[in-house]
Amino acid sequence: MKNILLLGSGGRECALAWKLSQSTLCGNFYIAPGNAGTSEYGTNLSISYNDFEGIKQACIQHKIDILFPGPEDPLVAGIYDFFKADPLLKHIIVVGPSKEGAQLEGSKAFSKKFMARHNIPTAGYREFTKDSLEQGIAYIKKHNLPIVLKADGLAAGKGVVIAENTIDAVKAFRSMITFEQFGEAGKKVVIEEFLDGIELSVFALTDGDNYVVLPEAKDYKRIGEGDTGLNTGGMGAISPVPFADEAFMQKVNERIIAPTVNGLKAENINYQGFIFFGLIKVNNEPYVIEYNCRMGDPETEVVIPRIENDFVALLLKMSEKRLNEAKIHFSPKAAGAVMLVAGGYPGTYEKGQLMTGFEKVSGSLTFHAGTTKKDGHVVTNGGRVLAITSFGDNIKFALTRSYENANHIEYKGKYFRKDIGWEF
Ligand code: AMP
Ligand code: GLY
Repeated sequence: MKNILLLGSGGRECALAWKLSQSTLCGNFYIAPGNAGTSEYGTNLSISYNDFEGIKQACIQHKIDILFPGPEDPLVAGIYDFFKADPLLKHIIVVGPSKEGAQLEGSKAFSKKFMARHNIPTAGYREFTKDSLEQGIAYIKKHNLPIVLKADGLAAGKGVVIAENTIDAVKAFRSMITFEQFGEAGKKVVIEEFLDGIELSVFALTDGDNYVVLPEAKDYKRIGEGDTGLNTGGMGAISPVPFADEAFMQKVNERIIAPTVNGLKAENINYQGFIFFGLIKVNNEPYVIEYNCRMGDPETEVVIPRIENDFVALLLKMSEKRLNEAKIHFSPKAAGAVMLVAGGYPGTYEKGQLMTGFEKVSGSLTFHAGTTKKDGHVVTNGGRVLAITSFGDNIKFALTRSYENANHIEYKGKYFRKDIGWEF
């Protein structure tokens, strides 16, 4: 039996907590800080996922065997290296890459150079800093439109600008470089070609030598129906993705996943954990838009329920570098998740709204995101509040069930998109 500490507090972590707690190998199970949903599956610890000292103390006190960081921040900040450098912690399995490996997500410039070195298909690009501001502006002026600008570092999903004209592009470039709109993260800017296609998310779990591919998913990032309005953390997700057929996934495997894992190994970059490939399909060919060093949210809420394997067993195989012996068993059913959010999100919104109706939900899984418990009641505690995931023989059936149950949950300001999976 393994004692596990999962870091994070979103819908992704609730889905992971649901899955990990079902394992016959799961011993004592803790989530830091967790939410009202994760407390159903383990013990929430009130420690921030960025508080390495606090996490260390919890690992010692609770004799943790596996540390599983859900979000990218602690990985990019080097929690793997922090554990491996400490005699009291180094025996603990960390599900996630070293600080260097996490640069695949933590630095756009690092990931673009990595892809160039390993011939992994991605948009053509150049990088610029304060010292090359004028060259950057000249580059933008002769570049095709639209043009994509990306702050190099982590910017909570807000560091990407797609400009339709040169004036907007130069303005965005200046605000990143000169006015440091994204602080440190935007001191370097990647400028790249716009790829016109349809996006999907592919996930692999690697032990550094071998890897297994998890079910693919598609998320719906915009707040408004018909993919309009502001970007959000994700308003819903589906899995499988109908346009990701076998021939396409084979190209993804050969041209993207295998060269990425082999490239990390060839460069001696320690990487044991998830690789999230944000891909775009252009004329039937896959390109990498971005890498992440963790699972996606809300993709996890549809990917994890489709995996039939014992998840802790899979993580142990990873730690033993024996993923070549593992085989992922997927449910043949489709999964669809609808995200209920707070009114006003992704702008300003209220917290602390009483949530009711959970007892009326049937035939769906509810994965809490921004929720907490107050005086024994569940109240909202974030922008994305609750993911409702259902299975079906196809995506439409799955989502019909999620929508029925979405109507049963009540809280002031409730909003959700009515068109998740609409195109399939
Ligand atoms: P990223 O943070 O790199 O994933 O970018 C955020 C979003 O911007 C992506 O999910 C895409 O929708 C869009 N995007 C980023 N790069 C490109 C590109 N080169 N071409 C088209 N769309 C892009
Ligand atoms: N759903 C996109 C992400 O997790 O980054």
